[in-house]
Amino acid sequence: MTILVTGGAGFIGSHASVELLEKGYDIVVVDNLSNSEIDSINRVKEITGKDFPFYQYDLLDYESLKKLFASYNFDAVMHFAGLKAVGESVEIPLEYYHNNITGTINLCNVMKEFGVKKLVFSSSATVYGNPDQVPIDETFPLSVTNPYGRTKLMIEEILQDLYKSDQSWRITILRYFNPIGAHESGRIGESPKGIPNNLMPYITQVAIGKRKKLQVFGNDYETYDGTGVRDYIHVVDLVKGHLSALQYLDEHEGIETFNLGTGTGYSVLDLISNFSEVTTKEIPYEIVGRRSGDIGICYANPEKAEKILGWRAEKDLIEMCKDSWKWQLNNPNGYQ
Ligand code: NAD
Ligand code: UFG
Repeated sequence: MTILVTGGAGFIGSHASVELLEKGYDIVVVDNLSNSEIDSINRVKEITGKDFPFYQYDLLDYESLKKLFASYNFDAVMHFAGLKAVGESVEIPLEYYHNNITGTINLCNVMKEFGVKKLVFSSSATVYGNPDQVPIDETFPLSVTNPYGRTKLMIEEILQDLYKSDQSWRITILRYFNPIGAHESGRIGESPKGIPNNLMPYITQVAIGKRKKLQVFGNDYETYDGTGVRDYIHVVDLVKGHLSALQYLDEHEGIETFNLGTGTGYSVLDLISNFSEVTTKEIPYEIVGRRSGDIGICYANPEKAEKILGWRAEKDLIEMCKDSWKWQLNNPNGYQ
């Protein structure tokens, strides 16, 4: 089985590539390296001891995609490629709409042209907006507050329409909660460009001395300690969910949406204290005002994925902290 991995040089795509290779799949990776480094590809090869083709193509370049699909017989596509920074999406919305939506439409068009109709798509818990209650299940109402989130919701809707028009497609939409951690080797991980937007990479950069202190965005939420609560999930667990989804597509027709989360919420202060315990590093922090657009509490009901895909997250917060730290310690400047 040959799987096309779009965005395979990125944080989640590189971990998915390792998992696919280790489970015996052949892969081809395409990535324009707009938010990643070629080194991650080399390290996936090093970890697995396996070689695979990599193409530095942009999903916006339809002719290159056609060339690619003409050269391989893909069985399915795992589609990670996309821009993902919420704040940036507010500043440059057109780039986000064009890259994420046109890129996905191009991909689906070329898949259709070559009769490849199995797709695993990376969506996000951001499509639930500010939910009325937790845990969040897949039937909750959807709403978004920023262009990035809107691209995810629009793509979900496009995929639903595509399926309605042609029921030979098999599609899983995976809504990720908060992926953190890294491969246990410490060779691949999250390598943000510039100042990290997300909590865990910020914490690891404080721990290694690259940043002075963490700003905790608000302690007046309606949560047990006032700070934001999220469903952190180890990236290796997350990508295992993709392999379960792929297997599901082999056996089932249709389009299905799944939450990929652990079902447990931790606060910002929980994450800081667990991280400090694991690494024996103190994380200096100050409480500042809320970050615009943030919600108080968000965690998954992951039962559907367990029941239908037979997948459940296994790794706990301690492992997530340990592996994030190992990656940061071994690669103080990420891949750069
Ligand atoms: P990432 O930025 O590390 O990886 C995305 C990859 O896609 C990058 O390597 C980038 O260079 C590539 N890419 C972007 N646009 C492209 C294009 N037009 N053509 C070819 N390659 C392109 O991000 P990630 O954290 O690995 O996220 C993977 C996917 O999961 C994204 O779609 C993201 O929106 C989604 N997601 C991520 C999170 C998260 O917290 N990391 C949460 C929910 C959903
Ligand atoms: N936080 C801080 N300080 C920081 C960074 C974050 O206190 O420097 C807090 C946030 O306020 C929030 C929590 O840490 O309470 C987690 O924040 P992240 O930025 O790590 O994650 P978000 O839940 O805000 O967003 C992430 C992705 C989105 C995605 C969403 C749901 O960035 O793209 O998870 O999957 F949509």
